[in-house]
Amino acid sequence: MINNHFNNKKIKIICVIGTRPEAIKMAPVILTLQKKPWAEVRILATAQHRHMLDQVLAAFAIKPDIDLDIMRPNQALIALTARLLLNLDDVLRAENPNIVLAQGDTTTVMTVALACFYHHIPFGHVEAGLRTGDMQNPFPEEMNRTIAGRLSRWHFAPTQSSRLNLLREGILDSDIYVTGNTVIDALMTVAKRDLSIGIEMDPSKRMILVTAHRRENFGEPFLQVCRAIRSLADTYTDVEILYPVHPNPNVAEVAYSQLANHPRIRLCPPLDYLPFVAAMKRAYLILSDSGGVQEEAPALGKPVLVLRRETERPEAVTEGVVKLVGPDYDAIMSESKRLLDDEKCYAAMARGVSPYGDGRASERIAAILQKAVVE
Ligand code: UD1
Ligand code: UDP
Repeated sequence: MINNHFNNKKIKIICVIGTRPEAIKMAPVILTLQKKPWAEVRILATAQHRHMLDQVLAAFAIKPDIDLDIMRPNQALIALTARLLLNLDDVLRAENPNIVLAQGDTTTVMTVALACFYHHIPFGHVEAGLRTGDMQNPFPEEMNRTIAGRLSRWHFAPTQSSRLNLLREGILDSDIYVTGNTVIDALMTVAKRDLSIGIEMDPSKRMILVTAHRRENFGEPFLQVCRAIRSLADTYTDVEILYPVHPNPNVAEVAYSQLANHPRIRLCPPLDYLPFVAAMKRAYLILSDSGGVQEEAPALGKPVLVLRRETERPEAVTEGVVKLVGPDYDAIMSESKRLLDDEKCYAAMARGVSPYGDGRASERIAAILQKAVVE
């Protein structure tokens, strides 16, 4: 128990969300905590993302109590960090919560953890302990989550390997809880529904779904990804590529200039969460540098070629259902061809496995908090 002065009082928990993946992964935690009689849940949207955040909140019928409306077009990291810290200071002072929770490794999460430290408020880190060991990959997320890890009271690690990463950094085992990843909780609440992509794809063609947004891939690496996407569409007339383009101008301007006007490449704005799950279910193959997609696609039995040099999610790679190809033209081409041409290779990667969770991570997190502060 961290404090026994909560007797007979509700525990005020602020759940912080900044970007699309944080909203998807915090939604099940928020919805679970809202049902607990001992918890008073307040939802703080930093709105580091705007439309991409709002559509997830709408999908889960979650309404922020506080919205900092931080996002600016093409925001730079230092200005974003400074705006977040100053605004969070005001909110924490006014709200004075007992606990703050946030998920992942964005600038929102790193600044929230730091602001809580300055205010002596216990911080719970959802999806703790993911590491590549390389501060430049992914950038700046590896540093963000390492800092958040140093500042957390509760480390909700999705897997044993993330627990081991934290132990190696000197975090006490008694502060680490292996819960599974809440992304699977979210996916399980929606994946069985009859979902529609909302974009008509040719039913006779195999669909490749693409997403890309990592800062370390901006420039030449992302150009190589685009060249590979175009070559695949040129080579395979029985393939159609669906690419919902991330609105970051460093991505969107290049994607549209390199890939528009191809008969077998469909570019579109980011899909809302439910249509995107529909797209993953419909996909034959996924090319992505996304963290969340690496977790979701194996559970849906879809092979992923990861457009990154390193991954902090080694479990699906070890299972053989996700492969790291990097933002590298030759590797993307050869591994995609293997999967498109060789049914055996494809079947080996299209096994449905879920190394990241069983759909009950949020209930575990709520139970751990209840035990720590209420019982
Ligand atoms: C951010 C996170 C990254 C996470 C990703 C999820 C940081 C530094 N980066 O990257 O870890 O994987 O979100 O997608 O925390 N934009 C819009 N509308 C939106 C969202 C973004 O127009 O709804 C545009 C804006 O021009 C914005 C830019 O994208 O300035 C970049 O947003 P930002 O959150 O800084 O970085 P991401 O690349 O989205
Ligand atoms: N996603 C979505 N629409 C899209 C692309 C992705 O809803 O057009 C979802 C996806 O299901 C996953 C999350 O967004 O849960 C991943 O977000 P992103 O790739 O932006 O961030 P990362 O996971 O890499 O931090």
